[in-house]
Amino acid sequence: MDPQQSSPVTLYEAVGGATYFESLVSDFYGRVETDALLRPLYPDDLRASVAHTALFLMQYWGGPGTYSERRGHPRLRMRHAPFVIGVTERDAWFNHMAAAVNDSDAIDEAKAMMLQYFDQAATAMINHVE
Ligand code: HEM
Repeated sequence: MDPQQSSPVTLYEAVGGATYFESLVSDFYGRVETDALLRPLYPDDLRASVAHTALFLMQYWGGPGTYSERRGHPRLRMRHAPFVIGVTERDAWFNHMAAAVNDSDAIDEAKAMMLQYFDQAATAMINHVE
């Protein structure tokens, strides 16, 4: 096969697939669990949040579409509307996710792509002016 013709690798594949995202999201929610600002926004039992967030990220980065099969169209801004998200909440959320990404074992290029996405997407979730 001509190497020039090889199919592009998705970020999902580049980081190692489902296992990577399960571990990233579990690390992230471990940080949320001890955050006095963010913890009250989430349900007492975090297991569904962990599962949905991991499935969403797998789908977003080119993996299987299980998230939408189970949850429908992501519509993330709408799903976050019930929670008051100001700059403070956004920054706390992003800092935990950035720490989880930086501590993970993905290649640097993949980490940079995820950090850029989380930075922009977290800002888009702001729905409250402080
Ligand atoms: C990059 C930005 C973000 C992404 C990709 C993201 C992703 C998600 C996903 C996929 C869910 C589950 C939706 C579902 O039920 O199917 C969720 C829930 C939630 N997110 Fe975010 N989120 C982001 C930013 C934020 C921010 C900034 C906050 C602020 C505190 C936040 C707070 C929450 C809360 C409280 C829930 C509800 C948990 C639940 O009911 O399970 N998220 N998020």
